[in-house]
Amino acid sequence: MKALDPLGTLRRTHFCGAVGPAEVGQELVLCGWVHRRRDHGGVIFIDLRDRAGLAQIVFRPDREPETHARAHGLRSEYVIAVRGVLERREDDAVNPDLPTGEVELSVSELRVLNTAATPPFPPEDELEVDESLRLRHRIHELRRPLAQSRLELRHRLNQSLRATCSELGLLEIETPMLARATPEGARDFLVPSRQYPGQFYALPQSPQIMKQLLMVGGCDGYFQIARCFRDEDQRADRQLEFTQLDLEMSFVGEDDVLRALEEITARAFADVLGVELPRPFRRLPFDEALARYGSDKPDTRIPLELVDLSDVVANSAFKVFADAVAGGGVVKGLAVPDARDFGRRDLDRLGEQAQKWGARGLAWVRVQDDGSWQSPIAKFLSEDERSGIAAAAGLQPGHLILFGADRAPVVNDVLSRVRSELGERLGRREPRDWDALFVVGFPLFESGEDGRLTYMHMPFVAPLEEDLPKLASDPLQVRATHYDLVINGTEIGSGSLRNHRADVQLAILERLGYPEDQARERFGFLLEALETGAPPHGGFAFGLDRLAMLLSGGDSLRDVIAFPKTQRAQDPFLQAPSPVDARQLRELGLRVRREKPPE
Ligand code: AMO
Ligand code: AMP
Repeated sequence: MKALDPLGTLRRTHFCGAVGPAEVGQELVLCGWVHRRRDHGGVIFIDLRDRAGLAQIVFRPDREPETHARAHGLRSEYVIAVRGVLERREDDAVNPDLPTGEVELSVSELRVLNTAATPPFPPEDELEVDESLRLRHRIHELRRPLAQSRLELRHRLNQSLRATCSELGLLEIETPMLARATPEGARDFLVPSRQYPGQFYALPQSPQIMKQLLMVGGCDGYFQIARCFRDEDQRADRQLEFTQLDLEMSFVGEDDVLRALEEITARAFADVLGVELPRPFRRLPFDEALARYGSDKPDTRIPLELVDLSDVVANSAFKVFADAVAGGGVVKGLAVPDARDFGRRDLDRLGEQAQKWGARGLAWVRVQDDGSWQSPIAKFLSEDERSGIAAAAGLQPGHLILFGADRAPVVNDVLSRVRSELGERLGRREPRDWDALFVVGFPLFESGEDGRLTYMHMPFVAPLEEDLPKLASDPLQVRATHYDLVINGTEIGSGSLRNHRADVQLAILERLGYPEDQARERFGFLLEALETGAPPHGGFAFGLDRLAMLLSGGDSLRDVIAFPKTQRAQDPFLQAPSPVDARQLRELGLRVRREKPPE
């Protein structure tokens, strides 16, 4: 019996994108898709495409009349295999824009492996195609060279991460997908149990508790390329399901973990991009990040900083400022040097933008070349206030300063966005390409909207040893062992040391509103584990999609995910989510109240 082999005698010898002058004169076999076809005075030129790129193949009527005649029937996206001799192109036919542009394959044998329906859009990268169309026809998008190169980059990233973690002594261990709810703070995806009607598994928001249990179980060091599920609003940097490089280590302090993270990150940049990141990564305290940049994930390549002017304008005749300070808020300024080109219309537009971000206004002062102030609010400011502002912000002729006056979180948020926007718009970025830093010293708690104490990241983060006494007396002042890795203004990952002592964990849960009996009811399995002899441990999770997006220069996670969800939480290609059979629902003991999904 003969095994099926659609290729017959045509065994692929090279990828299309990988042929060059070195192979000239050799007989090669290439396989791929018809990317583009041109007929020139009887000669047919085809750009043949595969994962590695494009190669030009040529059908000449004078040399191979029969093959040439069949080539007339080839259409876009037909799948073919060809044999031929690789030749150097005539000098005037060399295409310097194509890596394989010096050569072409003169075809002697053609086999059509499949025909193709007319594609919904051409596979050239240069052609702008609406994203909804690209997502609906995902395979055509995947065929585009840019998409191919991004998936390949992500593959290399995964290989690099695995190799470094393994060298650091971490074991790759898988944890369940059908798990139970963990408190990462987002809504869970639930999976109904058929065998236990009315009961549900939860898809993990992260393997957090499981990796801690692995440490208690003596595994010492763990990593996993782990899928996480969070039912939250979609944004350019958020997906319903996303991937983490998740890791955890035993018998470590904060420095040990940060050193490992730096190694993993630096190796990834070297392996994937050939870039040497400056080491050690800077450590920026959380308080300082908020004070200087208004954000805990600043892009410090933008050389613009905030200054706190609350003291200077506390008694100002400009009510907006004085009232903000009197009400417990702050007044901060963002000075922008050499802003002469930033005109009145730009200011108005930025002001409107700031209001959309939640500001009540965006007061400004422009320092003219003669040193005088041009500003709608200058007339309200005293001589002392003016000189105080000028000194604090280092104002010089040509400077613009923008003000925010409100509760501190609002001012920080708005001015940090204004800062990024201006950095982008005025091209104010230092020529450093990569800016990697650790943000450290986060608070353990924050006060929630209802004024109650909540955890800032998650309830298992260990406090700094020296702050333990403040747990009872002054919890908002307790600092955490939490750290974030921020690259170019994106939060790439976060982690912490964990509470390995049950008494500390219980005290924290109590502050969060769970007296011991309730804490044991909800987190009993973790508390019991801690009581069985838990080693000190800590870890981290990289947002792998975000890291891949950054390394590939994409601007949406969808660029580096083969089958992503849309902004509206749907997969238009697989057409998910979708209704299920009545029988399936019956088996699960479920009844759907609203048959039709909301529009
Ligand atoms: P955290 O919730 O901060 O920590 O997640 C870690 C990193 O994962 C990425 N990330 C996301 N990426 C895409 N879409 C999302 N919806 C999304 N949510 C988070 C971010 C983030 O920094 N268990 C802890 C880690 C630990 O302490 O070890 C955790 O999950 O880049
Ligand atoms: P008003 O007194 O409301 O006309 O505001 C005068 C200037 O102050 C305008 O440029 C406003 O944009 C600005 N402004 C108003 N409220 C605030 C605020 N909370 N923070 C910063 N600027 C503000």
